[in-house]
Amino acid sequence: MDASEIKAKLTLSNGSKDLDLPVFKGTLGPEVIDIRKLYGATGMFTYDPGFMSTASCNSTITYIDGDKGELLYRGYPIEQLATGGDFLETCYLLLNGELPNATQKKEFTHLVTQHTMVHEQMTFFYRGFRRDSHPMAVLVGTVGALSAFYHDSLDINDPRHREVSAIRLIAKLPTLVAMAYKYVIGQPFVYPRNDLSYSANFLRMMFAVPAEEYVPNDVLVRAFDRILILHADHEQNASTSTVRLAGSSGANPFACIAAGIACLWGPAHGGANEAALNMLKDLQAQGGEARLGEFIDKVKDKNSNVKLMGFGHRVYKNYDPRAKLMRETCHEVLDELGLHDDPLFKLAMALEKVALEDEYFVSRKLYPNVDFYSGIVQSALGIPTTLFTAIFALARTVGWIAQWNEMISDPEQKIGRPRQLYVGAPRRDVKPIGER
Ligand code: SDX
Repeated sequence: MDASEIKAKLTLSNGSKDLDLPVFKGTLGPEVIDIRKLYGATGMFTYDPGFMSTASCNSTITYIDGDKGELLYRGYPIEQLATGGDFLETCYLLLNGELPNATQKKEFTHLVTQHTMVHEQMTFFYRGFRRDSHPMAVLVGTVGALSAFYHDSLDINDPRHREVSAIRLIAKLPTLVAMAYKYVIGQPFVYPRNDLSYSANFLRMMFAVPAEEYVPNDVLVRAFDRILILHADHEQNASTSTVRLAGSSGANPFACIAAGIACLWGPAHGGANEAALNMLKDLQAQGGEARLGEFIDKVKDKNSNVKLMGFGHRVYKNYDPRAKLMRETCHEVLDELGLHDDPLFKLAMALEKVALEDEYFVSRKLYPNVDFYSGIVQSALGIPTTLFTAIFALARTVGWIAQWNEMISDPEQKIGRPRQLYVGAPRRDVKPIGER
């Protein structure tokens, strides 16, 4: 962090001394006012529910410019990473800060491939769940349970342990997600295959059955790989902040990632792709495009509490660059599968058109985000709606680990412990129950 030329001075009207606050600038993006000494100097806290104006850390991993609709992983534009390489290259980049050369990529791919199986005892955890369990409930449980198996890599202060845990999590998430799917539909688990690419292996574990072989379709494998790249990291979003906060207490990496999965499940965050597709399906069932105007009026009515799922973003007040790429992937997959007349996709396009032209959404800068299209692509790939967020978690695991690693290695890091503005009851004495 470099000192900015801008100075910040806090003047309070209660007669206390003015307080000079350091201002720092990064490589890109907004500068920050360092308020670490504020409480000690003034006895006051800052107040920022939802952290709309708060930088929780300094980071070298991902940069987002909401106005320009820009997303960089370690400085590289998402458009180039999503079209020029594969997900494991992006994983290597997020973890190590640089893109791999051919040798490094080969070694990293081999390392991940060698860790795709889970301990056979893990299968017993699945048997404890109801068959109609939501895959995210299963995933929170099984990822957290990994810490019961890997006592050899739980010392978070040992860089080697952190590296081993990172590889294990990246390698095993696809297996755990596919197992959650197979369990819920009552089919046998499919073991990973080391002769397949990361994404082809996942699709095979999802859709192969003992009764017949499954040959991955290259167009669909590439589309799925792109979904993973686009969801790999996204600065200090809610689930990443959860992983950082959990990690700041010294919790083991598997427990921290399980915490991130739990947070991602929310419909305002990673659950939005599932919610967006359910919204389209409900709209379809109620009459489709013929009922679009009525639906949009409901969204605009604050009392209806109906949101346009897959639209809007805390940071992107312009187009989500990932949505643009996901929209392209949508076309590729629907073309490959001959689904371009798919009514759900056509309804999604009609809804997108209305929202992009309607003053209500334009004035609030509510554009389609990545979740609006990722649900349609996954649905076309044959992935059930209930699994969308689990696949988001699969992709985001590498981003969570990279951010967790950065936090653990930061000499300035300490346990996260925000304060509050107390507005509750003043001090009072307990009365005996007979007098209450
Ligand atoms: C992800 O943070 C990340 O980076 C997240 C993510 C990642 O990769 O990690 O990008 C992934 O979570 C994408 C977002 C997915 N969520 C959704 O699609 C759910 C629908 N979107 C909304 O819930 C909302 O847009 C948020 C939560 C995404 C952002 O909310 P903000 O920034 O807190 O904005 P807000 O709720 O204050 O809304 C501002 C205005 C309000 O209207 P007014 O009070 O000003 O009249 O816009 C309205 C809101 O009511 N609004 C919407 C809306 N989103 C906001 N109105 C209708 N439909 C919506 N989707």
